[in-house]
Amino acid sequence: MSAGDPEGARDRTLAQIDANLEPSLARLFDLLRIPSISTQPDHAGDCRRAAGWLSDLLGGMGFDASVRETPGHPIVVAHDRSARHGPHVLFYGHYDVQPIDPLSLWDTAPFEPVVRNGAIIARGASDDKGQVMTFLEACRALREAEGELPVLVSIILEGEEESGGENLLPFLKANADELRADVALICDTGMVGHEIPAITTMLRGLVGEEIVISAADRDLHSGIFGNAARNPIHVLADIIAGLRDEAGRVTLPGFYDGVTDVPEAVRAAWNRIGLTDEAALGPVGLSIPAGERGYSALEQTWARPSCEVNGISGGYQEPGFKTVLPAKASAKISFRLVAGQEPERIRAAFRDYVRSRIPGDCAVEFRPHGGSPACAVPFDGAPLAATLRALGEEWGRPAVTIGSGGSIPVVGELQQALGMNALLVGFARDDDRIHSPNEKYDVDSFHRGIRSWARILHALAAI
Ligand code: BES
Ligand code: ZN
Repeated sequence: MSAGDPEGARDRTLAQIDANLEPSLARLFDLLRIPSISTQPDHAGDCRRAAGWLSDLLGGMGFDASVRETPGHPIVVAHDRSARHGPHVLFYGHYDVQPIDPLSLWDTAPFEPVVRNGAIIARGASDDKGQVMTFLEACRALREAEGELPVLVSIILEGEEESGGENLLPFLKANADELRADVALICDTGMVGHEIPAITTMLRGLVGEEIVISAADRDLHSGIFGNAARNPIHVLADIIAGLRDEAGRVTLPGFYDGVTDVPEAVRAAWNRIGLTDEAALGPVGLSIPAGERGYSALEQTWARPSCEVNGISGGYQEPGFKTVLPAKASAKISFRLVAGQEPERIRAAFRDYVRSRIPGDCAVEFRPHGGSPACAVPFDGAPLAATLRALGEEWGRPAVTIGSGGSIPVVGELQQALGMNALLVGFARDDDRIHSPNEKYDVDSFHRGIRSWARILHALAAI
């Protein structure tokens, strides 16, 4: 139907998107009401429900959609073969969300979405349900307005992205022939500021380790045993304190092996974006970069590896005071990796370091949580150029390529299992509070995100 006049067809689709924003929002709200927190076993049923909801939605849109089992949360796969020609794209997103704690800091219920001041507020509004729905709603409008999609589209939606799940890579390998496409499209990243559209071409990797240190075989009275009996919180505190030196560098032997500074040209391009330390940290109430000395806040997050403590526990946590020596203390520690670092070598170096600091009468247990290398998308080809152009047209200013401090393990896995590169296009804004209370996604991100995908699919069809 659109073959003769692709631009006219595209404009009909854009008008369709504008006219149907309300029902599009209503569908997103239905998805946001499902508390699909992948890391909490109590929510396994909700993860399954979200997968079923998405599969039904895609089926209703004319996709050949199914919920596929894995040893963990299911994966949704769907195909639309209405396009008669054009490249084949594989869209990836995740339907799982982060935990909501601390609940007391939310102004509204995390799974009862509302619109306030032009923003959709709910857990997952931005990361990643709102972003996933920008693509699905674009496909819906394209089918409704043009009768077919401009390119062949396959979709894969997973439920273990936020919990470092290990089931996606084997699934990709086992279904390689079904899933392989010319290019992957991922909507799980952000823009620069509020108005500059961006394609992310560098992501950091991640190694997570939970350590549990055990000392005495029970909790002890800290007067009767203190000083003589080992306190595992002290052991843990020493371990954590020793992980970074005065200058903010990680102390693990070999940690920086293979790490290089970003090329001067990249550094210059980033500087042109003009993200000062104040601009990066001011919005969250801080001003002093806390990582490696000599690097800007932007470089510390986009281009330097790091070590962070994400959680710590041990001892009496209830109101009041209890003079106790706990039997155990634990921490959740993660390393963000850049190109050149191997996740399993870093994990081994960390474990060696921890073991070397455990007293002879104590013990340590390690629980791994995910490991993925950093990835760069070597994408100077036509799809990148076409996508930058399409984004520029929608947002009325040139799109840029950026790095990101976050991790999206599937990017490396797609390269490894299917030999595919991904274009990372997202509409999240820096103040979306992803992973935090009061997560939001601007209605404008959602609306223009949908419009952007309609333009991008048309632009890819024209290559
Ligand atoms: N969408 C984020 C990653 C992201 C955030 C990329 C902002 C670019 C800008 C993703 O869902 C996420 O949070 N990933 C986890 C992965 C981990 C649990 C394996 C992360 O980065 O902590
Ligand atoms: Zn995400």
